Amino acid sequence: MEHLQSFRKILDEKTKKVQAIVYDYLPGEAGFASELAEAIRYSMTAGGKRIRPLLMQETYQMFGGTGTVVRPFMAAIEMVHTHSLIHDDLPAIDNDEYRRGRKTTHVVFGEAMGVLAGDALLNYAYETALLAFEESEKTEECIAALRILAQKTGICGMLGGQSVDVTNEKQGRLTVDEEMLNYIYENKTSALMEASLMIGAALAGASKEQIHQMEQIGSEVGVAFQIEDDILDVTSTMEELGKPIFSDEKNQKTTYITLFGVEEAGVKAAELTRQAIARLDRLSVPNDKAFLAELLEYLVVRRK
Ligand code: IPE
Ligand code: IPE
Ligand code: MG
Ligand code: MG
Ligand code: MG
Repeated sequence: MEHLQSFRKILDEKTKKVQAIVYDYLPGEAGFASELAEAIRYSMTAGGKRIRPLLMQETYQMFGGTGTVVRPFMAAIEMVHTHSLIHDDLPAIDNDEYRRGRKTTHVVFGEAMGVLAGDALLNYAYETALLAFEESEKTEECIAALRILAQKTGICGMLGGQSVDVTNEKQGRLTVDEEMLNYIYENKTSALMEASLMIGAALAGASKEQIHQMEQIGSEVGVAFQIEDDILDVTSTMEELGKPIFSDEKNQKTTYITLFGVEEAGVKAAELTRQAIARLDRLSVPNDKAFLAELLEYLVVRRK
């Protein structure tokens, strides 16, 4: 218990520092497009767990990375993620009114601005990531990291997963079995976790095989993270979660809960996490991996 409290304390402190890095890269709010910038800031500053940039930073350090080149990529991954949330909440997708404890971006700024803020944030993520070239001479590593970011965000990653999940929502168009559900989770959720871990490793100069192992870890913890998100959707409260509960049921979605029930889904999430941590244990890295291991474990016991 004492141990858990000290982990939470360290997590809190690290999250605050990560958030400060993300804030450093937000766009200014000048000129005719100031409402767009305001909508972006509204969604980016609403609070959120900042898990992905934290995973990236911890992996970078674990592989011996020093210096600031990782910072623009940390901000960029949080921007891609927040873009995915703004669009995920739109009426055409999940149609949800609360996110990170606030009204969703489209509810406050209108649907058109919600679409544009999501688009602009996705683009701004790349504008931000490109700043890494000014932080360091590590051109090859930065190019590798950009490639990972682009691939894991697009059709072979998060957006591919979201596209199939949308068809999953329109009942009758697809019968989702376990194989398809795993495709959805591995893409809509795991892909950005994979990107976070892989970019951290790539920027620190990790080998191809090490980057591949980090990808596998991201795949496993990403699915576990999404299963926990499904569990929270039926067991939490809006106050605690900061977003509506029973969103999946409202959209008549097939999830791990509808296929296996809460209890078995929880067992599967724990098993995936155990596999990921065992994989991390086997890696030979220059720096301490204890915090990263605890963070992976925390992802499936989180309450928000
Ligand atoms: C929510 O992600 C979307 C999923 C992939 C389940 P998070 O649970 O990381 O959301 P924030 O960033 O903390 O708001
Ligand atoms: C969304 O999954 C994953 C992405 C936004 C890419 P959900 O639709 O379950 O996420 P929440 O529950 O709205 O955060
Ligand atoms: Mg969704
Ligand atoms: Mg949603
Ligand atoms: Mg959900």
